Amino acid sequence: MKVLVTQVIDSVGLEALKRAGLEVDVWPGPGPIPRDELLRRVSGCDGLIPMPTDLIDDAVMDAGALRVVANHAVGVDNIDLAAACDRGIVVTNTPGVLTDATADLTMALMLAVARRIVEGHDLIRGGEFYGWRPTMLRGMDLSGATLGLIGKGRIGQAVAVRAQAFGMEVVHHSRSGGLSLEALLQAADVVSLHCPLTAETRHLIDAARLEQMGPHSILINTSRGPVVDEAALVDALQAGRIGGAGLDVYEEEPRVHPGLLSLPNVVLLPHLGSATRGARRRMAELATENLIAVLTQHPPSCPVLPESP
Ligand code: GLV
Repeated sequence: MKVLVTQVIDSVGLEALKRAGLEVDVWPGPGPIPRDELLRRVSGCDGLIPMPTDLIDDAVMDAGALRVVANHAVGVDNIDLAAACDRGIVVTNTPGVLTDATADLTMALMLAVARRIVEGHDLIRGGEFYGWRPTMLRGMDLSGATLGLIGKGRIGQAVAVRAQAFGMEVVHHSRSGGLSLEALLQAADVVSLHCPLTAETRHLIDAARLEQMGPHSILINTSRGPVVDEAALVDALQAGRIGGAGLDVYEEEPRVHPGLLSLPNVVLLPHLGSATRGARRRMAELATENLIAVLTQHPPSCPVLPESP
C-alpha cells in the first residue's frame, strides 16, 4: 500500500509508516506541495497525510484511490468533508497534542502586542534606546483586563487558564453558550479567536464587528485566517478603531495583506501555533497512527469522518 505525505514531518511519523510496511512518498519541499504535484503523486495512493495548507477536494480524492486522509493538523477546513463522505474516505485529525503549544503562542502574541515587545526590540536594534523614560512604550495592563474568547474548545480553555493566571477576567462566546458576540466584543480588552473555520465562522470578524471593539482593544488570531476579514482589519487598525493585533494566520496564506506589514501595533507570525518540537512530534505520531489504523482495518483514534458513534 502506498501513502503520500505532503511535507517532511517529524521522523517518528515517517519511521512508523515504514515499519508498517507502507510505500512512502514524501514531498521534500521547500514549501507546500504544488497542486499539480499533489494530483500527480496522489494517484495510486491508499492514504494521504496532508498539511493544513493543502486543499484536499474532490479532484485530489478522485486522482487517488484513497481510503484515508489523515490530516497533520487539528483543523480540517482544508478538506472537503462532504466529498470525502460521498466517497467513503475516512478523515482524521490530531486534536489534543497541540493544545498547550497553541495556547502558549496565543499568550505570546497577546503579551507581545499588549506590552509592545517587538516595538521595543526594534527600538534597541535601531540604536534608539537613550535610557529609561516613564512615558516610553506604555502598553496595556493585562492584569484586570477582560479577555474575550471566541470558541471555547480545548485551545480556548487552555488560553483561559493561562490568562486567569495573569489576572485577566475571561468571558467567552461559543456554540454552547457564553456572551452574545456583540456583548463580548464590547466587553473585551483582548479578543482571541479559537473557533474552527466553517461556513458560519468565515469573516465572523468583519468591519461591523471590529466597530464594536474598543479603540484600545487587541485582536489575537491563532485559529484560521479567513475567520477575520483581513482588509477590514487593516482599515480598523489604520483608522485607530482598534488598538492592535497579533496574528499567526492569514486569509490567503502565505500571502499577508500588505497593509499589515507597515503597522507598528501589529505582531505577525508565520503560522507557528503548534510549532514546538514536542507538539510536532506528537502530531506526526498521531497522524501516522490514524492512517495506519484505517489501512489495517482498525478504528482510528481521532476520526472526524465518519464521526465516532
Ligand atoms: C494547525 O494549524 C492545526 O490546525 O493543527
